Amino acid sequence: MSSGPRILLREETLDPSYVPAKLPRRDTELALLGRRFHDALGKGLPFHLLLTGGIGSGKTALARHLAADLERGGRLGSWPVHPSYINCWRRASDRTVLLDLLRSVGVSLPDRGYSLSEMLDVFEQGIRKTPAHHLVILDEASALVKQGTKLAYLLSRGREVGLGSITLVLIATEDLLPYLDAASRSSFGVTHRLALAPYDRAALTDILASRAELALRPGSYGAELLEQIARVAAPNGDARFALEVLTNAARLAEDDGARELSAEHVRRAKGSILPTVSEGHLEALSTNQLGVLLALARSLKGRRSSLPSQKLRQSHAALLEELGGRPMSRTTFWRTLKELEREGLVTLEAGSSGESSQIAMDELPASLLTTLLEERLAQSQKT
Ligand SMILES: Nc1ncnc2c1ncn2[C@@H]1O[C@H](COP(=O)(O)OP(=O)(O)OP(=O)(O)O)[C@@H](O)[C@H]1O
Ligand SMILES: [Mg+2]
Repeated sequence: MSSGPRILLREETLDPSYVPAKLPRRDTELALLGRRFHDALGKGLPFHLLLTGGIGSGKTALARHLAADLERGGRLGSWPVHPSYINCWRRASDRTVLLDLLRSVGVSLPDRGYSLSEMLDVFEQGIRKTPAHHLVILDEASALVKQGTKLAYLLSRGREVGLGSITLVLIATEDLLPYLDAASRSSFGVTHRLALAPYDRAALTDILASRAELALRPGSYGAELLEQIARVAAPNGDARFALEVLTNAARLAEDDGARELSAEHVRRAKGSILPTVSEGHLEALSTNQLGVLLALARSLKGRRSSLPSQKLRQSHAALLEELGGRPMSRTTFWRTLKELEREGLVTLEAGSSGESSQIAMDELPASLLTTLLEERLAQSQKT
């Protein structure tokens, strides 16, 4: 176990439930929505919103941030903002959602024996007691909406149905408009919809940097490491996955008693969350491919997460010499690299002009890959 200094100084700040004070790369969205809510609520009008985006694109973080900002901002028009956040994932019925909503406006009911309309009456009394702009956030609302919720309609027509000033925010990974009834759909016109794009690599790097700064000991990670994790998470644009890899890599580094996180910790962390390469996958590789991969794995055993193609070509040539194989032409070397890229085993990146490409391998711990490949090569030489 650990003998080195602690690395995860504030692990709780990497927990998925933690709402960070800063949301880099979502400032534009935050400002835009802040303005729209401000304008509408200031005039005493609701502002309903349908917020969509892929997994880990920051929907929940953005909504909670916005709610906290509005709540802190004090009165808008005649009332303050009172947010109620409800995750509907496991509460996919109007009644269970409404029970939570009741609790958030300070009334409690036993969860049995009341009809939806009785519960709505109680809700109405509850919000009369505390006049406010009620900002109701229904997160992970897909199942609820697909089951034909009436609550979305009632909450988006709060005023007309006598429920007072309610603003409804629906959050889902997919567009929910097709599943809403026509009346509710009209509450979510174009300015009332926001689809978050997946984070790209640069965005993930910034996000990782801001969260690592909160959670990890300064000096325990470098910029290259964060870039490696961002590269690993970029295909899905998923910040949650990126932060999970960071957390697990930091744990592995602590367990190793290391002072710093290394590229190898990242590979191991990634593999434990999402094993992508099976031994069968490796068995299907050609001897050429195995050789290049082995040269790469050996070169990347230390702290590095990528290296220039020139360097790889040199260490590959040295490996062939060691194994007594024939030298490989430049063209074959490149074709082999391209094949490995298609297999999803390496990443090629064009270097800036005049520099050679960078080759990265984030799939498997280099130590494990080296062992597997050496065994395979030894076998194929015997036969
Ligand atoms: N711009 C950002 N800056 C800092 N942290 C972020 C940012 N965006 C997301 N995160 C963090 O990434 C994780 C995932 O974000 P979030 O939970 O908001 O995604 P989501 O879109 O709600 O995903 P899901 O569809 O799975 O619910 C959270 O820990 C969140 O704090
Ligand atoms: Mg979410």
